[in-house]
Amino acid sequence: MKGVILAGGLGTRLYPLTKITNKHLLPVYNQPMIYYPIKTLVEAGIKDIMIVTGGNSAGDFLKLLENGKEFGLKGLNYAYQEGEGGIAAALGLAERFAEGDKIIVVLGDNLIESSIKPFVNKFIGQKKGARIILKEVPDPERFGVPVFKAKKITAIEEKPKSPKSNYAVIGIYMYDELVFDIIKTLKPSARGELEISDVNNAYLKRGALEYDILKGWWTDAGTFDSLIKASNLVAEKPRR
Ligand code: G1P
Repeated sequence: MKGVILAGGLGTRLYPLTKITNKHLLPVYNQPMIYYPIKTLVEAGIKDIMIVTGGNSAGDFLKLLENGKEFGLKGLNYAYQEGEGGIAAALGLAERFAEGDKIIVVLGDNLIESSIKPFVNKFIGQKKGARIILKEVPDPERFGVPVFKAKKITAIEEKPKSPKSNYAVIGIYMYDELVFDIIKTLKPSARGELEISDVNNAYLKRGALEYDILKGWWTDAGTFDSLIKASNLVAEKPRR
């Protein structure tokens, strides 16, 4: 299975920190933000990784990460996203890299405490479809939120004003090769982006979306509050 880290976007919610650099290069405690999703994947046994970036300072990723030796990798792949097409559009750029393989996608501003290896192993054993990870949160309206009926997800709503559960769909997704065909059918949302929640809803319609619930903390780091929260969480429990 191959890994894709999405590290593009303009990071407007962190302006002016992101006026001259990319959000994923900002520090989270003692490391650049992008180190954390790379370590998440490497720890789960994923060695073939592509970083999709864009916006400001795209070239700095190469300078910072080089060939990934620091993470025990033999090489890293890079793709460049022009403009602001959204998460699903960024993922679409990884089609040739995936070569028909299953993929795991991590949003570059998502940090977790525990290992995702058990979920990755479950997905390796899953014949087809997609697998998402949920975490109970106090502020689900900021995220993709699952709607449940008898423990089954019936829909995923993106940033709903009145969330129908207290769970967030975290930014770690596993997909089979169908994902790239699904992305090609998507229409931009109200915020003008191809939404990853629409990809997950397409799998749901096919009856091919499984989920796990994450143990340990999870946070994004795309706002001032979550950026400092991420730094504090890492500082309290430094990663290996
Ligand atoms: C994105 C997704 C959302 C998901 C979140 C996780 O939100 O659209 O479904 O729950 O990442 O971090 P965004 O960061 O674009 O607001």
